[in-house]
Amino acid sequence: MTRKVRVGLLGCGVVGTGIVRLLHDNARTIEGRLGAPIEIVGIAVRDLSKPRDAIVSAPLVTEDAMSVATHPDVDVVVEVMGGLHPAGELVKAALDLGKHVVTANKALLAEEGDALLETAEQKKVDLYFEAAVAGGIPIIRVLREGLASDRIVALRGIVNGTSNYVLSRMQHEGLDFADVLKDAQRLGYAEADPTLDVGGGDAAHKLAILATLAYGARVHPREILKEGIDTVGAVDMRYAERFGFVIKPLAIARPVPWGREEALDLRVHPALVSKSSVLASIGGALNAVFVEGAMLGPCLMSGPGAGALPTAMSVVSDIVDVGRNMLVDSHARVPTRAFRGESLQTMRVRPSAEHRCRWYLRFSVADQAGVLARIAGVLGGFDVSIEQMVQEGGRGGSSVPATLVMLTHEAREGDVREALSEIARLAYCHEAPRALRVEEDA
Ligand SMILES: NC(=O)c1ccc[n+]([C@@H]2O[C@H](COP(=O)([O-])OP(=O)(O)OC[C@H]3O[C@@H](n4cnc5c(N)ncnc54)[C@H](OP(=O)(O)O)[C@@H]3O)[C@@H](O)[C@H]2O)c1
Repeated sequence: MTRKVRVGLLGCGVVGTGIVRLLHDNARTIEGRLGAPIEIVGIAVRDLSKPRDAIVSAPLVTEDAMSVATHPDVDVVVEVMGGLHPAGELVKAALDLGKHVVTANKALLAEEGDALLETAEQKKVDLYFEAAVAGGIPIIRVLREGLASDRIVALRGIVNGTSNYVLSRMQHEGLDFADVLKDAQRLGYAEADPTLDVGGGDAAHKLAILATLAYGARVHPREILKEGIDTVGAVDMRYAERFGFVIKPLAIARPVPWGREEALDLRVHPALVSKSSVLASIGGALNAVFVEGAMLGPCLMSGPGAGALPTAMSVVSDIVDVGRNMLVDSHARVPTRAFRGESLQTMRVRPSAEHRCRWYLRFSVADQAGVLARIAGVLGGFDVSIEQMVQEGGRGGSSVPATLVMLTHEAREGDVREALSEIARLAYCHEAPRALRVEEDA
């Protein structure tokens, strides 16, 4: 029996350094819970000459990542370097040698997770990834173990802290997207290239992982409807508020009837949620996952979705879990994807055109008689009816455009899209209409 859990660390940046710090500071607690100490035997980085935190032991650090991933003394390879290459090759090499792997890399899991998890299952080793979704919130463990007896009716989350931070500041300070984003980059809440975060790609990676765990379905991020927060304006925040809503960056997965079968409704987009809803209160860079179990009912988990120590906490908890399995020789006791490999299915994803919800619509139009009637007529022609409406601006027939904002009754997405493209072609429409979904049960 191994009386030490020996770790090879791939990457020693924000999260890697947090892991070294946490293993040092919480060593006694961890040993008490695991029944053995965790020891780092090697640390791989890209650039040896970079200055490191004093807590990182220099003799352990190398630029030869493969030597760490395949080191004979390493029991658990911890991948926190990010990206697909060489992280994917290193993880694969470690699994092939029968080593357990813990990773925080959602991009790698979303793109290559199926193949890597199958290798792990064949080799009867653990591949854990708690930190890959919602950083410090233990949502993976909850889906895998805590909710193992329940059917998940719906899962709605705020899983991208950057998007939540940007929208929260737009809401509270009345600022526009571009101004908040610039400030968020200066303060370290957004990357220099924020595309993956504000464009919804990062949330789609995480939703693909969550949907697999919740529904036992193989999901690829490209199957997920994805809209970023970059089309939301400060003006939308104000009107949403007037209608009793706030705008939140949501990731949604739920089974829905589709034909004779069930399909998955998978969406990542900003949405209007009632001011009194659970997710409306999740502000700043916080993350949250709101799960509705058929028997459990609603259950909310919220907390830091990123940051060195919260993320390191999730990674090290995974190492503890793997270590516990090692010490009693019970690898793969809990299926990594929450369902046994043989019962994983390929579920159909319902086309987004079939989604029905209320809609927030904003038009910038010439302030002329008959414009409103024409727009309402086009919407009505596609079975989209108006529940509430506000008209502002314009100066009675001048060239200053008027803003027309509507909340519709429930309407089919495909119909709304067709109506909006017809309206966009009308001569008195000054810019493309803006449309945001209302999410009722958030
Ligand atoms: N930061 C967070 O709050 C957070 C939260 C959840 C999940 N994650 C995930 O955790 C992972 C790591 O994120 P991070 O923020 O810690 O990244 P980071 O600060 O950029 O650190 C990456 C580390 O990997 C090393 N590295 C990169 N490419 C390498 C290569 N080819 N060979 C050897 N070493 C290499 C870098 O070496 P150098 O130091 O020499 O450059 C660095 O030490 C990512 O998958 C990320 O998505 C991060």
